[in-house]
Amino acid sequence: MVSAVKIAVVGGGYGAKVVLPVLCELEEFEPVAVWSRRPDRARELADEAGVALGTTDLDELLGVPGLEAVHVATPVTMHADVSIAAAQRGLHVLCEKPLATDLAQARRVAAAVAEAGVVGAVNYGRRFQVARGRLIERVREVAGEPRMVLVSLVHSDHAEPGSRPFTWVQDAEMGGGRLQGYGVHDLDLLLEAFGPIEAVAVATEVGVPERADADGAVRVVTAEDTYTILMRFTGGGLAVVSLVATAHHKRGDVIEVYGSGGTVKLDADRRLWWGRADGELTCEGPLEASSRAAYARVARNFWSAIRDGAPPDPSLDEGLRVQAVLDAVHRADVERRWVEVREMT
Ligand SMILES: NC(=O)c1ccc[n+]([C@@H]2O[C@H](COP(=O)([O-])OP(=O)(O)OC[C@H]3O[C@@H](n4cnc5c(N)ncnc54)[C@H](OP(=O)(O)O)[C@@H]3O)[C@@H](O)[C@H]2O)c1
Repeated sequence: MVSAVKIAVVGGGYGAKVVLPVLCELEEFEPVAVWSRRPDRARELADEAGVALGTTDLDELLGVPGLEAVHVATPVTMHADVSIAAAQRGLHVLCEKPLATDLAQARRVAAAVAEAGVVGAVNYGRRFQVARGRLIERVREVAGEPRMVLVSLVHSDHAEPGSRPFTWVQDAEMGGGRLQGYGVHDLDLLLEAFGPIEAVAVATEVGVPERADADGAVRVVTAEDTYTILMRFTGGGLAVVSLVATAHHKRGDVIEVYGSGGTVKLDADRRLWWGRADGELTCEGPLEASSRAAYARVARNFWSAIRDGAPPDPSLDEGLRVQAVLDAVHRADVERRWVEVREMT
């Protein structure tokens, strides 16, 4: 018998699709409350999950008797306030990525968690998907120093004005954009596999400039749906990280690593190809890329940090290292120049 952590989920999007169902399945957690902006939706989510409280009132949620932890899955601009409020009440915090809107705010989250003496973690779980986890292992085995790394994501979910309604995701002021959606996971992967990033140059675009919101009002899209990041690793080697969300024909993620010691490639069908410099490429897969399984691992790690004192994984420090690069990416995009990551720290 494990000692289940009483947890609340703040957010009814990814929080309802992935976080809450996974937490309900894990014996390590007992979900006791869920937050949505809308009262009906909050109650519906609570009923569906068999959770006692569904509320729009964050204070009520954070004050549930016996509550020990929260998962914060709100728009990015709310992450810091909710996480800090939770830590100040002595609650352990698992925050969505990116930790905050910028590094200064993310550091305030880390400081509040440290001051409260609670566990803090950030959900960079995509690197725990089997396909990406195996890629990192093979990189460590055969790639050596990176010479060129290519990460290419091609999605079609933003291809038409009607393919997604306007929400905070299309609003730069609310921390939206595909960089916060996917780019940060790929930055996290590269930092994990290859170490620090020295500098970035960036271009972003909005391919579909107007979308109707849920009420049918036409809104101007201010957050990027397309980006390319060119980067140089501190230890040498270049990478190109790109995403287009407005393609008419989507394709699986492609990640290619050309290193001093060999080659590792994840193809669009999630087959992993790898080989040393003097050998043929070996193929394994197709490999799993389940979001739920990846989140289950993040949640179990969070539990181990709370109950056993294990180091949080992914940790807030890992959240901060991505945040520094993300700040550099935003500045490079606005100022249209190479930006050194250390300028941001
Ligand atoms: N780790 C991952 O793989 C992963 C995957 C997806 C998303 N995420 C992260 O999860 C977080 C939430 O994303 P999401 O896709 O779940 O977003 P979402 O579905 O649009 O909204 C999440 C929650 O925030 C509320 N909300 C939406 N717009 C708001 C606004 N303008 N002001 C206040 N509250 C608002 C929603 O209210 P309602 O309940 O009323 O709809 C919902 O409860 C983000 O940080 C995102 O990066 C992570």
